[in-house]
Amino acid sequence: MSISSNTAAPSVATEYDILIIGSGAAGLTMALRTADFAKVAVLSKGDLNQGATFYAQGGIAAVLDEEDSVESHIQDTLSAGVGLCHPEMVEYIVAHSAEAVSWLVDQGVPFTTKSNPEQSSNASDPDALNLSSLHLTQEGGHSHRRIIHATDATGKAVFETLQKRAQDHPSIDLIEGCTAVDLVTQASETSPERSCVGAYVLNQQTDSVELIKAKFVALATGGASKAYLYTTNPDGASGDGIAMAWRAGCRVANMEFNQFHPTCLYHPKAKSFLITEALRGEGATLELPDGTRFMGNFDQREELAPRDIVARAIDHEMKRLGCDCVYLNITHKSAEFIREHFPTIHSRCLEFGIDITTERIPVVPAAHYTCGGVVVNKQGETDIANLYAIGETSFTGLHGANRMASNSLLECFVVAFGAADDIHSKIDHTVLSSDIAPWDESRVSSSDNEILVSHNWDEIRRCMWDFVGIVRTSERLRRAERRINLLGDEIQDYYTKTTVTNDMLELRNLALVSSLIISCALARKESRGLHYTLDFPELEETLTDTILSPDSSQ
Ligand code: FAD
Ligand code: SIN
Repeated sequence: MSISSNTAAPSVATEYDILIIGSGAAGLTMALRTADFAKVAVLSKGDLNQGATFYAQGGIAAVLDEEDSVESHIQDTLSAGVGLCHPEMVEYIVAHSAEAVSWLVDQGVPFTTKSNPEQSSNASDPDALNLSSLHLTQEGGHSHRRIIHATDATGKAVFETLQKRAQDHPSIDLIEGCTAVDLVTQASETSPERSCVGAYVLNQQTDSVELIKAKFVALATGGASKAYLYTTNPDGASGDGIAMAWRAGCRVANMEFNQFHPTCLYHPKAKSFLITEALRGEGATLELPDGTRFMGNFDQREELAPRDIVARAIDHEMKRLGCDCVYLNITHKSAEFIREHFPTIHSRCLEFGIDITTERIPVVPAAHYTCGGVVVNKQGETDIANLYAIGETSFTGLHGANRMASNSLLECFVVAFGAADDIHSKIDHTVLSSDIAPWDESRVSSSDNEILVSHNWDEIRRCMWDFVGIVRTSERLRRAERRINLLGDEIQDYYTKTTVTNDMLELRNLALVSSLIISCALARKESRGLHYTLDFPELEETLTDTILSPDSSQ
């Protein structure tokens, strides 16, 4: 564990006003929005940049163009979400999109401008503060150009800017190599409502589990796409926040809607490299191995149909032809345009011997985004008092049955703003808990069986890919349920007897979120958005979220 601010390393009973678990877009935003009135800790289980935020390519959806409108962004989001978006949440988040981008510009994020699309803007340039100067690109499901970006590495630009700001703030401690194990909640006779009072965290440097007390805790731990064998996500996307919230007693919703991104680079040596949808936004076409375009057979929006439709179409064609991948072709654009707009993808593909200015890019779908998560309101409040969930770990109702491109980062910022305001209104009458037991390690011994962890990890991810993937059946889901439950029992047994490690904690969480995904998928008796099952191919008339409650699953 290392701390990049000027406080002592946390030991047992370290105290903060706010403990934010996760250092991605959501966590850093919340830290910056609260640090002027609170002492804040931001934890990351790996390096600070290990979340999905750092890898985000396409950008942030926001209404900035005069020809665009909030109403149009709302309608596109509702349409991509196939009836399940919560309209009031969509309206709220989209209405705050310009404010979110304006705040990011103020922080100094070097977004690409219209005058200079090949380079991100210089944050010290006063022009950069003018929102109308930002270059807008296009992605699937959007009926306007409304994606603000920093070439094709938007997440890196956002992360580095916010991290620098947080590092410079005297009230924020950025703590790396520290894995939250579980939340601490309390209720008493005088205040029977359960509230969150801190978390047990594994200090990876000392291998000890310590207690961090806080008046407020926020889960900003990202998604759970690592539950699948093939994913665009970094290794830490094991659904820790969802699992911790569930174990603490929070409801979780719509976990069946795990989004598969249509275009992940297909190359034996390329681990999880995304090819941004913005390529299709700029005219790239999807082709079969023989060069035939096929998206027109599936949707009139062709390559710019929402992701669920494009991913399913690719899956269908790959299975029909028995081919390993399809191809994305942007060679009709000039080499100069491609290098200017997509420098990261251009150079990464070159490392694998693919020159995207002259050659087609081999692509396959891969697990990308968790639309479900911990049930929260606009302020990110969960079912437990003083516990918030923000960003990909949460379920706000914005995404419905399928998230529209670039709405995720937007949600991270807007809900983090709301959570920060909510804490501001409560902090003066909230006190730290004085009475929390330290972590009990008396009944565990050191692990001599690390191979079990890596084997089970692999088994879960393969099972989820094979049986809970893009096209599902009830039989496959039940098969997955049996296997995951068995693995989950074994892992829990191992967990209770063994000293915890980061790998084991992730495995335990992965098994739990996989079982939540399967339970939600089995509960939905229709095909909608990202959940497609051959047994129920039609849409049901009634619109329902799949809400799981820990109380009813005992
Ligand atoms: P993350 O950025 O994932 O951060 C999670 C943090 O939690 C990390 O710091 C991690 O270390 C920490 N953490 C997790 N568990 C623990 C634990 N137990 N203890 C301590 N710390 C923990 N969305 C868009 O809107 N636009 C895009 O262009 C876009 N492109 C994408 C490209 C890629 C390749 C990927 C993978 C996703 C993309 N997305 C995009 C989705 C978007 O990036 C994510 O949904 C968003 O960044 C999530 O941010 P977050 O703050 O919720 O979590
Ligand atoms: C992409 O750039 O294609 C990813 C955008 C997103 O996930 O929103």
